[in-house]
Amino acid sequence: MRIVVKIGGSLVDEDLSPLARDVKELGKEHQIVIVHGGAKVVTDIAEKLGKEQKFVTSPTGFRSRYTDAETADIYTMVIGGTVNKKLVAILLKEGVNSLGLSGIDGGLLVAERKPRIKVKEGNKILLIEGDYTGKVVEVNSKLLELLLNAGYVPVIGAVAIGKEGENLNVDGDRAAASVAGAIKADKFVDMTDVPGVLENEKVITKMNKVEAKQTMEKVGPGMRRKIFAALEAIHEGVPEVIIASGIGDHPLIYALEEKNCTVITNE
Ligand SMILES: Nc1ncnc2c1ncn2[C@@H]1O[C@H](COP(=O)(O)OP(=O)(O)OP(=O)(O)O)[C@@H](O)[C@H]1O
Ligand SMILES: [Mg+2]
Repeated sequence: MRIVVKIGGSLVDEDLSPLARDVKELGKEHQIVIVHGGAKVVTDIAEKLGKEQKFVTSPTGFRSRYTDAETADIYTMVIGGTVNKKLVAILLKEGVNSLGLSGIDGGLLVAERKPRIKVKEGNKILLIEGDYTGKVVEVNSKLLELLLNAGYVPVIGAVAIGKEGENLNVDGDRAAASVAGAIKADKFVDMTDVPGVLENEKVITKMNKVEAKQTMEKVGPGMRRKIFAALEAIHEGVPEVIIASGIGDHPLIYALEEKNCTVITNE
């Protein structure tokens, strides 16, 4: 089986050794690719560098970081460096043959830049220029196949390269969904700091596409993106998406056993 695991930036301060041990165990039988974000760390380091971070909301209700050229550089440094190397080191320590890459290396994630973004401020819709965010349009799946067949667990920091060679901020959940689609993954597991999609403080255990679309409108920004990415992965042929917690004992093994998590299927 092929499994794409997204490790949320919300998990960077947690003990990720149990998750790494699951990757080691499951890696004996399955091929695993890891994709990660790291929004919180980008914000922390940018602010330490004296670069104030701004967040904007699109007219359709998606929150994102306003990424000017300086922020794009910091984003690349932190996601491709700090967070990526930290995860690779944790995995190596548990015996996983992990190899860190950013989406720029080998043209792993190619994105289309959105040089101007629409932003909702109160009742007004504004156009902001000079943004370095993008949407992944191409995944170098050949490179991933090469690494998987050589026994590596690729660990991809969700930064992408644009058509003009620019570094772009891309959403980690959606980048992971694109990777899952491109390598024809059997499962896409999106691991975060909550047990799944919550409704009245309870985990929704199963959703089909229609239910997922309806639920997407009712949840907060972080989860909204995950459901959106789950639907994209399903649209690209991934049969099952699991949203689960990356914290605690056997987080990945339990998620694949569909214990205490949200499973979204193509029904
Ligand atoms: N209905 C909901 N059910 C569960 N979580 C929700 C819901 N609505 C909003 N959330 C929030 O979504 C968050 C998860 O998304 P978030 O983007 O913060 O983390 P992440 O994707 O793991 O990290 P990163 O974006 O840095 O990779 C949860 O911590 C929770 O606060
Ligand atoms: Mg997120």
